[in-house]
Amino acid sequence: MRAATIASLLLSFGTVLAAPAATDVPSGFVTTDGTSFQLDGQPFAFLGTNAYWLPLLSNDDDVHATFESMAAAGVKVVRTWGFNAINETELPYAEQVELVPQYRWRLLTFPQIWNSSGWTLNEGPQGLQRLDYVVSAAAMHDIRLIITFTNNWVGYGGADLYVNWLAGAGATHDVFYTDSTVIASYQQYVQTIVNRYKESPTVFAWELMNEARCASDLLTASAACHPGSGTLGLWYQQQSDFVRSLDPYHMITTGGEGQFYWAQPDTYWYNNTLVTDFNFDGAAGEDFEWTLGLPNIDFGVYHMYVQTWYPELDYPGSNFSIEDWGLDWIEAHALTAQMVGKPIVIEEFGVTGLDNKTAIYPTWVQRTLDTDHAGIMYWQWGQLNLTEGGGNQPFKYTDALVNGASPNDGFAVYTNQSAVLDIFTQAAAIQAQRSA
Ligand SMILES: *[C@@H]1O[C@H](CO)[C@@H](O)[C@H](O)[C@H]1NC(C)=O
Ligand SMILES: *[C@@H]1O[C@H](CO)[C@@H](O)[C@H](O)[C@H]1NC(C)=O
Ligand SMILES: *[C@@H]1O[C@H](CO)[C@@H](O)[C@H](O)[C@H]1NC(C)=O
Ligand SMILES: *[C@@H]1O[C@H](CO)[C@@H](O)[C@H](O)[C@H]1NC(C)=O
Ligand SMILES: *[C@@H]1O[C@H](CO)[C@@H](O)[C@H](O)[C@H]1NC(C)=O
Ligand SMILES: *[C@@H]1O[C@H](CO)[C@@H](O)[C@H](O)[C@H]1NC(C)=O
Ligand SMILES: *[C@@H]1O[C@H](CO)[C@@H](O)[C@H](O)[C@H]1NC(C)=O
Repeated sequence: MRAATIASLLLSFGTVLAAPAATDVPSGFVTTDGTSFQLDGQPFAFLGTNAYWLPLLSNDDDVHATFESMAAAGVKVVRTWGFNAINETELPYAEQVELVPQYRWRLLTFPQIWNSSGWTLNEGPQGLQRLDYVVSAAAMHDIRLIITFTNNWVGYGGADLYVNWLAGAGATHDVFYTDSTVIASYQQYVQTIVNRYKESPTVFAWELMNEARCASDLLTASAACHPGSGTLGLWYQQQSDFVRSLDPYHMITTGGEGQFYWAQPDTYWYNNTLVTDFNFDGAAGEDFEWTLGLPNIDFGVYHMYVQTWYPELDYPGSNFSIEDWGLDWIEAHALTAQMVGKPIVIEEFGVTGLDNKTAIYPTWVQRTLDTDHAGIMYWQWGQLNLTEGGGNQPFKYTDALVNGASPNDGFAVYTNQSAVLDIFTQAAAIQAQRSA
């Protein structure tokens, strides 16, 4: 079943522009070398983090201060959102200083504005100029960025805004991957972002979508998007080839969670029943191994939220441990990287609770270092002493600056939490030695 699907996917494409040889890439651009990254002829291994909210900040000093603290902690790569789309109906709230009364949030920055005619680009000081500043401030601190083009989830106007406005009521989420009007609209946005920064060595890599799945938190999947359907794989192939046609030099990755599609998925005991592990049976639509083989997917990324993915795990009759499952997930991806011969990055991971973090992160970080992960990026950076809105600034949803602290979803590691931050700064030092 799967072999046939893959063969037909490959047949449907003719010549493909492959990733360039490292020698052709301009100086200062990171590229791959087997399972490692390379920068100007030297190995490049890194500790990185996530700060999706950086382009939401309207204050330059806050952005600058954040990169300064990150650099001091040894952070070399930061992942952030290259998107934030709103509906035109939200626009009046965006331009006034008052909070949106019914939501109690303020929309300060929004590069993309939707109405029934499609989306309009905002290149103004509340639009792409914020991302411009993030790119230039990162460069000042020798930090590179993974820039993501859209979201699987509704947060900050993801794929479902394209589906809602272009495919209409009743369309399922996976229409995002197959409808030609939707794809053209997505590609138009991608082209805008890529062309704007494609000369910049500060871009570490382009990322097609955060956590692509057949379904989202808002819309369901159609029967056509199922394990082995290749829907996501074909989309990854088309979009990575598209980005490569715009930009021959920067690396490209998926942004996926790293789920496998195995004929014999992992299992675990839950409530005295043997359960198939949804991260190994392709249920969400992803096939990590196949996707990593695509010519213009330069490296693999995966995410890891064991505690929230398996809330049932402490139930009596379960043989499941958060820590062990994580180690297994780390090893399974490292093996795939070896098999395919491309680098691997654990791009997001986290547990909630300070004690949980200090207990589990050392083991997970050590295993990623031992299995030769080229990059380790935790979710998410926590910055203190931000000044925007007097340090108390609601953004959207429940995201807000509180007493100068950047948004906290339970996973943020603030600079005052040295017991956790030290785990990462030590890993940064090891990665720096490996980069010499
Ligand atoms: C959508 O927004 C654009 C840009 O503001 C505008 O030109 C167009 O008329 C709008 N379409 C509708 C249907 O309101
Ligand atoms: C934006 O518009 C879409 C399509 O009409 C709608 O489904 C969605 O609820 C709107 N979102 C907001 C925040 O108004
Ligand atoms: C749980 O039990 C299943 C079935 O015996 C086994 O395949 C799996 O590896 C076990 N998991 C752990 C974490 O021990
Ligand atoms: C565990 O299994 C028992 C027996 O099948 C069932 O009654 C119970 O609802 C299950 N509990 C959970 C939390 O799934
Ligand atoms: C720590 O992890 C345990 C096990 O998942 C969880 O029950 C607990 O809520 C976590 N603590 C915090 C503060 O999040
Ligand atoms: C934040 O500001 C407080 C009070 O001015 C100061 O004590 C603290 O050191 C600052 N923290 C950081 C991380 O800069
Ligand atoms: C660190 O800063 C955060 C965010 O302001 C705060 O919640 C926490 O109590 C502070 N101290 C420690 C030790 O975490």
